[in-house]
Amino acid sequence: MPGFPSQLPVPAADFVLPLLDWYHANRRKLPWRDNPHWYRVWVSEIMLQQTTVKAVVPYFDAFLDRFPDVRTLAAAEEAEVLALWAGLGYYSRARQLLETARIICSAHDGSFPADYRAALALPGIGRYTAGAILSIAFGLPYPVVEGNVSRVFARYLAYADKWDGRAARGLWNLLSTIVSSSAIADRAGDFNQALMELGATVCTPRHPDCRNCPLTLACAARRRSMQHSLPVKRQARSVIVLDCTVALVRQGQKILMRPNQEAPFPKGLWELPRSNDESLALEIGNSLGTVTHGITHHLIRIQVVGASLVGASIPNGYRWIDPQNPGVGLSGYVRKVLGRLQGQQGQQGQKGR
Ligand code: ADE
Repeated sequence: MPGFPSQLPVPAADFVLPLLDWYHANRRKLPWRDNPHWYRVWVSEIMLQQTTVKAVVPYFDAFLDRFPDVRTLAAAEEAEVLALWAGLGYYSRARQLLETARIICSAHDGSFPADYRAALALPGIGRYTAGAILSIAFGLPYPVVEGNVSRVFARYLAYADKWDGRAARGLWNLLSTIVSSSAIADRAGDFNQALMELGATVCTPRHPDCRNCPLTLACAARRRSMQHSLPVKRQARSVIVLDCTVALVRQGQKILMRPNQEAPFPKGLWELPRSNDESLALEIGNSLGTVTHGITHHLIRIQVVGASLVGASIPNGYRWIDPQNPGVGLSGYVRKVLGRLQGQQGQQGQKGR
């Protein structure tokens, strides 16, 4: 079986220069691009893992307002970092960001190590993130291989085998050669971003816009009209469905909550008590409806019931939280439940008028 190509079908400059020209004319204006200081690039790249640019931008702005530099971040409480992350998902990223900020301050004198091995030793920094930060913030010749870049190359090379770890390693080797070539000089950061940008905005999964692609002339998939069927996907992980029932217990404006301990819900974010929590004496009332919520490959069906507390005391760990001003990170599903209830109240208010 032929392996992954070790060379481009054209001289590197014929690939790199049109791509860079396209990027300079068409790139989206993003808050971390005007000033690619490593701190901004690092925070943005961690947020962008598994998350779209559009979803990240408001979180990035709020995060930078509160933690403008690594020392401010390193001094923060984990709960506050999680509160600013609430809604972005994959919360281990936020914990590792804080852990890494502390290591950067204690072991690297407050600067990101401009060295590949040292970068990889930091929590939450894998080959992709190390390559992105070192190339974009420091101009070093490291590649990035992520979903968008892989799709561009699977099509450009008409790579018709399943896109698996072997293909990703092959692409990493090919890109390592390109970013070290004279066509790139010190522009590995722009090159990497151009590839990601092309995959995100032109060479998209379902509607590749080949007429506006700077690589279209030599694109093997385009020549063979295969752009819609590449890359050949790996089988998706099957979805696990979970059911649970939670209780909405009110005291005035406030709602009873506790920090979650159980996977797949994000550990440490605040959530509603389970209706069967034996540490709580609850009188269960009406059903308030069901909310479905996706977390990674889990689909969780959450039934919400109204409940009241028997007695006045609450067990350790529980707190009355004002949902308008929580001060802690609320689980995504809790925000969904509260939004839904508010909507219902709004509708009832309108009906009563
Ligand atoms: N996805 C992840 N990092 C990116 C970047 N710097 N530019 C465009 N898309 C990205």
